[in-house]
Amino acid sequence: MPLVTTTEMFKKAYDGGYAIGAFNVNNMEIVQGITEAAREVNAPLILQVSKGARAYANHTYLVKLVEAAVIECPNIPIALHLDHGPDFETCKSCIDGGFTSVMIDASSKPFAENIEITKKVVEYAHDHGVVVEAELGALAGIEDDVKVSAEESHYTKPEEVEEFVSKTGCDSLAIAIGTSHGAYKFTAAQCTRNEKGELVPPPLRFDILEEVSKRLPGFPIVLHGSSSVPQEYVKMINANGGKMPDAVGIPEEQLRQAARMAVCKINIDSDLRLAMTGTIRQFFNEHPDKFDPREYLKPARANIKELVKHKLINVLGCDGKA
Ligand code: G3H
Ligand code: 13P
Ligand code: ZN
Repeated sequence: MPLVTTTEMFKKAYDGGYAIGAFNVNNMEIVQGITEAAREVNAPLILQVSKGARAYANHTYLVKLVEAAVIECPNIPIALHLDHGPDFETCKSCIDGGFTSVMIDASSKPFAENIEITKKVVEYAHDHGVVVEAELGALAGIEDDVKVSAEESHYTKPEEVEEFVSKTGCDSLAIAIGTSHGAYKFTAAQCTRNEKGELVPPPLRFDILEEVSKRLPGFPIVLHGSSSVPQEYVKMINANGGKMPDAVGIPEEQLRQAARMAVCKINIDSDLRLAMTGTIRQFFNEHPDKFDPREYLKPARANIKELVKHKLINVLGCDGKA
């Protein structure tokens, strides 16, 4: 089937109590690892491309890689989404250039300005059959060149969501309930420690999610910054020359709980980067004489595939839903 929008997937996900995985893609091996996993477990999928990914790999290369995946996976619905579109021009370029979904992220702007920019993108996108994700509230962490400190971050205010959605006409809404971008989501000071001495992050604000979904019945909610930072890969990186102390993410059980509620799209990027980097570091340590990129990218791609399968089945609950 051709690329799809997220409309149908979100409706089914909302009603079925699961979420669609949205994974960032930057090169062929990442596209292959993710899509082979989704094909194997029969899961609908969102492949997303950031401004940084377009700068790194080039818009056309990424679209063509995704189109190749669509041909290789004819039985699963795949949407191609712009992640964190910074302005109208970038969104327009992706809408004109084959994407089926875009995010306009004007969450750092004042409320009225966020509405104005989002509305303009929605009008253009809807005229071209493309859907729009918008954001209210600010997540801590780093995305492209925007760094939001923990002090600047703030939760979504539920009392703003109805006005925002009705005035902009957006199709889904990303909210801030305590997730954040990157592999360092929480400082040790923000966490407690369990009996094994491991860092335990503060729980997500399910009360805010609940209140938002009461005010927007049936409306798809999106969670960004939802990597769980698998300690297996942090350890692999550190055991093979890396230095990633105290990297900790969102516990998977909490993401599963969010997926049962109004959250229909969960964004995961950093976990795949950790899997790829850990695998390649280990490969080089074990095989210092090797230099063929195919030899070290092959196990990296295989580990991305295994990790995505685990997410689709155990975290998002969307296996078998294609
Ligand atoms: O939220 C951002 C995504 O992880 C994409 O990261 O901007 O480094 O491509 P990037
Ligand atoms: P992570 O950094 O937690 O993987 O979040 C990715 C994301 O939100 C992409 O938009
Ligand atoms: Zn994000």
